[in-house]
Amino acid sequence: MPFIDVKRLSVHDPVQQSHLVANITFSLHRQRCLAVIGESGSGKSTIAKTLIGLISPSLKVDGEIIFDGEKLTTQTVKGWRGKRIGFISQDAMNAFNPIETIGHQMIETFHQHLGLRGKEGELHAIAGLESVHLKNPYQLMKTYPYELSGGMLQRVMIAITMMLSPDVIIADEPTASLDAYNRREVIMQLQRMKEETGAALIVISHDLGVVQAIADELLVMHQGVMLEHGSAAKIFTSPQHPQTKHLLETRLRLSKPLEALRQQNRMEAAPC
Ligand SMILES: Nc1ncnc2c1ncn2[C@@H]1O[C@H](COP(=O)(O)OP(=O)(O)OP(=O)(O)O)[C@@H](O)[C@H]1O
Ligand SMILES: [Mg+2]
Repeated sequence: MPFIDVKRLSVHDPVQQSHLVANITFSLHRQRCLAVIGESGSGKSTIAKTLIGLISPSLKVDGEIIFDGEKLTTQTVKGWRGKRIGFISQDAMNAFNPIETIGHQMIETFHQHLGLRGKEGELHAIAGLESVHLKNPYQLMKTYPYELSGGMLQRVMIAITMMLSPDVIIADEPTASLDAYNRREVIMQLQRMKEETGAALIVISHDLGVVQAIADELLVMHQGVMLEHGSAAKIFTSPQHPQTKHLLETRLRLSKPLEALRQQNRMEAAPC
């Protein structure tokens, strides 16, 4: 049985009388990574937000989302967010409370979801920050979100998500504001989580170097509908739709330097 089963998912804007996404169907097993690609505005974040229950209440959602055999509803998703479903959002700055320190927010989250108290929570936070290579973690815990760059906040968000060890991780452009070194580190960490904890990953990315390095399956979006869905290797080598072909050609040209990253990941994944 797939871990995530999405059936005929549509999101409709009653004011504009238009669909943000229509008829999205896919399923995903544990330890698998689905990458969602497509041009800007094609509906990628809308799918992610719907899966995590963070879609604007003014929009109407149709279809069915099943997580681990249970139907996702507005009520159930609230309890699952964080511990069962981790979300790394595209907008790191807005993911944090501006008037609380990073440390306070991390410790609070670990207390709420994992029941960690005092020193235990602090050590968990430090371990998380170290795992994403953020320097001086004790100092960093005392800072406020506005004192950190977008890339640093992104890494803090990734650290929190990973330390909660959720069953599903939905990552919306997780590497967008990172440099090449940290991009590679984050990909390797996501991959490690998938292998070690059995998490299912849904990664949205414009960066096809990242997608090639991590995705088992691919979902190609265009103007709110699915163009193609299937094995990532197959779609990369023989895209069926002309629009997919165009997207892959233009995007691959931009992400050529990451070919090295893919090769390196392959080599590291290979048994000695
Ligand atoms: N709350 C909302 N109400 C109405 N329309 C919305 C809302 N949020 C997004 N949209 C529209 O839905 C469409 C899909 O947006 P979405 O953010 O899902 O695209 P995306 O593929 O993630 O784009 P990007 O690559 O730029 O992040 C866009 O036309 C956008 O303007
Ligand atoms: Mg988006």
